[in-house]
Amino acid sequence: MPISLSAHQLSSIPPRPFLKWAGGKGRLLFQYAPYLPTNYQTYYEPFLGGGAIFFYLQPAQALLADVNPELVNVYTCIRDHLQAVIEQLKIHSVHHCQDYYYQIRSQPLTTPAQRAARLIYLNRTCFNGLYRENSQGQFNVPMGRYKNPKICDPPLLQAVSTALQTTQIQEQSFEAMLDLAHSAQDFVYFDPPYHPISVTSDFTAYSRGAFTPTDQEHLAHVFTVLAGRGVQVMLSNSDCRFIRKLYRNYTIHPIQAARAINSNPHKRGKITELLITSW
Ligand SMILES: C[S@@+](CC[C@H](N)C(=O)[O-])C[C@H]1O[C@@H](n2cnc3c(N)ncnc32)[C@H](O)[C@@H]1O
Repeated sequence: MPISLSAHQLSSIPPRPFLKWAGGKGRLLFQYAPYLPTNYQTYYEPFLGGGAIFFYLQPAQALLADVNPELVNVYTCIRDHLQAVIEQLKIHSVHHCQDYYYQIRSQPLTTPAQRAARLIYLNRTCFNGLYRENSQGQFNVPMGRYKNPKICDPPLLQAVSTALQTTQIQEQSFEAMLDLAHSAQDFVYFDPPYHPISVTSDFTAYSRGAFTPTDQEHLAHVFTVLAGRGVQVMLSNSDCRFIRKLYRNYTIHPIQAARAINSNPHKRGKITELLITSW
């Protein structure tokens, strides 16, 4: 089916996250809003995930990054090859069923646009929108039970593509910020995998390598170096002694959060998280 929306219809939709991503900040935006700086030139989001804060801010100049190559490929393809991604998503929409899901899930990697559409398709239809890979780096989340998942949403993807036009998108680890952000005109937002608040919570397993306590310490060091340069630095993490101690020299704002992605529905209640700012 060809896209028959007018340019006005396509552009009238505000951009927002197009993936369900663990740790997405969509529901916390109204609590974050008072703390977001307004005076900066370049925005950096090195743990991009679903990119809720980027879409909320819509900065004129941004560098977006993540270590997950498939995630970086999705954003890059939506920016540069939108129509090819939409065409593939339409095919997935038409064929979606249990057999098709597992067939697409096990398919070898293809062109960048096909890989991008595959990730969006699996993300919209898999269990709880989780992203998990096996030891060979293959996506291994089972199918979810959605009655009518919205697999292809051209107006939203067009809005996302427009918002991404002025961005640089890179596959790299957060340490790269040390080479990139240098002044008070830079605003860096770190949203790392959270330090687990209990032994059973496993929110560090986004990608192949888990985010360890040593990584958290290393990140706190990067935060400190950037803050020392006058960069405006903001970070989200779980509310626990370890994180409070790492950032004891900065401003800590407790945020009321609801954990949406947890396989145990009884653990989806309200908890406190931390928003830390260098100012
Ligand atoms: C909490 S999620 C980000 C949530 C996102 N900000 C949102 O609003 O949806 C964490 C992200 O960090 C990425 N990540 C994990 N280790 C990383 C590292 N060392 N450097 C950069 N990104 C990393 C994961 O791939 C994942 O996408």
